[in-house]
Amino acid sequence: MKTVHINNVELPAVGIGTWNLGDDPNCHDDEVAAIRAGLNRGARVVDTAEMYGEGRSERIVRDAIKGYRRDQLFIIDKVLPTNAGHQRLSTSLEQSLHNVGTDYFDLYLLHWRGTIPLAETVDELEKMVTHGKIRAWGVSNFDVSDLKELWSLPKGHHCVANQDLYNLEERGIEYDLLPLMKKHHLPLIAYSPLAQGDQLSGKLTSDRLLQEIAANHQASVYQVMLAWTIKDSGILTIPKSSSVAHAIANWQAGELNFTPDERAALARRFPRPQKKQLLATI
Ligand SMILES: NC(=O)c1ccc[n+]([C@@H]2O[C@H](COP(=O)([O-])OP(=O)(O)OC[C@H]3O[C@@H](n4cnc5c(N)ncnc54)[C@H](OP(=O)(O)O)[C@@H]3O)[C@@H](O)[C@H]2O)c1
Repeated sequence: MKTVHINNVELPAVGIGTWNLGDDPNCHDDEVAAIRAGLNRGARVVDTAEMYGEGRSERIVRDAIKGYRRDQLFIIDKVLPTNAGHQRLSTSLEQSLHNVGTDYFDLYLLHWRGTIPLAETVDELEKMVTHGKIRAWGVSNFDVSDLKELWSLPKGHHCVANQDLYNLEERGIEYDLLPLMKKHHLPLIAYSPLAQGDQLSGKLTSDRLLQEIAANHQASVYQVMLAWTIKDSGILTIPKSSSVAHAIANWQAGELNFTPDERAALARRFPRPQKKQLLATI
């Protein structure tokens, strides 16, 4: 399994996303079982947010991680931009910690930029580190200009990760953002790595090349899509699944290595961007 370092912690490059989990009470047991299927195989990262179902996804995480060693888990939570200032950040964080049933988060992200000045958010995040409520902080949906502004702040370089949309059909960040992050040793957390189960364009699952490469590896097209997001170093991928079978497949995709020919064919079929693109978000 490939690994990635975040805040000096070595983690398996396949983690677990949780958006939309918890929305249907009838799916509770399956969703808990899906998260545990990943954890039981060795996954350590669980990604959630106060926004997801207004705490419902955090509470699924709470139920799923019961009985697991806390120090083996790496839990990521996110604060909404409207809550990311002096007034509300600590209250939001306390609520999220309560929902997840833990004393601290390994990583706490600003979910996306809002109107609260970055300096105020950073100040508040730093306080939470000092209070032991979070081990580290990072950002999400940040582009090059956002990172440069962040790094111009006195403690801006304490940011340990940036979470952005990244999958086979959303490679825009490879033009300038990813090279900049690599230069600064800032890991990427790739969200929606399966293009939301191919719901974005609907073209990936029927793609001949992806089907061919999947057959070469006795894998599914989804596993190929997921493996592609972590083919380079410094990337953590966080697929979401509410099914045990999919969760296991996603973990196994971390072992899939492309041949040089497959890499080249994928690069021809899904070309790198040749110019700056607006940061894609969901
Ligand atoms: N920071 C941000 O702004 C942001 C934005 C979006 C997402 N995220 C994070 O990133 C995570 C992942 O992104 P996402 O949830 O948008 O989409 P995703 O992980 O790209 O795709 C999830 C979809 O793929 C399906 N799926 C998962 N594994 C599969 C497999 N092995 N075979 C076939 N289908 C499979 C799931 O269905 P089943 O449930 O039936 O398996 C679900 O419909 C989120 O859950 C969240 O934690 C962050």
